[in-house]
Amino acid sequence: PRCPTKQLLDDAEKGGYAIGAFNVYNMEGVEAVISAAEAESSPAILQIHPGSLKEGGLPLVSCCLSAADRAQVPITVHFDHGSSKSDLLDALEMGFDSVMADGSHLPFDENIMYTKFISSLACEKGILVEAELGRLSGTEDGLTVEEYESKLTDVAQAEKFMDETKVEALAVCIGNVHGKYPPGGPNLKLDLLKELRELTMKRGVSLVLHGASGLSQDLVKECINLGVRKFNVNTEVRSAYLESLKKPQKDLVQVMASAKEAMEVVISEKMHLFGSAGKA
Ligand code: 13P
Ligand code: ZN
Ligand code: NA
Repeated sequence: PRCPTKQLLDDAEKGGYAIGAFNVYNMEGVEAVISAAEAESSPAILQIHPGSLKEGGLPLVSCCLSAADRAQVPITVHFDHGSSKSDLLDALEMGFDSVMADGSHLPFDENIMYTKFISSLACEKGILVEAELGRLSGTEDGLTVEEYESKLTDVAQAEKFMDETKVEALAVCIGNVHGKYPPGGPNLKLDLLKELRELTMKRGVSLVLHGASGLSQDLVKECINLGVRKFNVNTEVRSAYLESLKKPQKDLVQVMASAKEAMEVVISEKMHLFGSAGKA
């Protein structure tokens, strides 16, 4: 069934594991997440990025909501990277369980105002708000942030930000990247993560890490030990989908079924890695 995102994240905090939030674009994606979650007895988050919301609209959101309602395990539906007020206002009306108010492109004070505005509206509806501090580099659904524009999360800012905005989840930038990591592999600042974790824990705020595609098993485990409770995964699942389309198949139903299966394999692996398998 559907449940509040806060509950999934709080349960993960109690159990010392993390929830996978998987970006979906269509029905195959939604079904892949639900089948994997049911097969692994894992809670999961279905998330929709503004790019896919623009394409899929309310039918895509309804597909997520009804699949979540019908699921045998707890599932929530999240709006990812809401970097415009109008998208977020729409999302708050569409029935999402949680939204990301992404003001990371704004100067610090404006990010506070932006997040506060959304947070006050969401709060009335019992919708959880995630925000981002710092700025992630990399590419997601056509939007590229160059490495020189990226910024690590500042500890003093994080403290002020959480106290003023009252967000319930915070996405941090510790060297994580949307999409592929550079040839040397990820360079995550785990000391910074530890400092941020102390601040979020005191306030009951859930720690979120974007850019989880491409992180090694060891790094994921360390991040979970240091308090990460939600990992965003897009690229690896999307690549599995695209790879499966290269197989020579003529029957469209077969094409869709193999795409779903290919995504499901990756999603199941992540659920084991995040420790959410067996927790539903
Ligand atoms: P990846 O594409 O690196 O998995 O990042 C996903 C993400 O952060 C979605 O918000
Ligand atoms: Zn992201
Ligand atoms: Na990544």
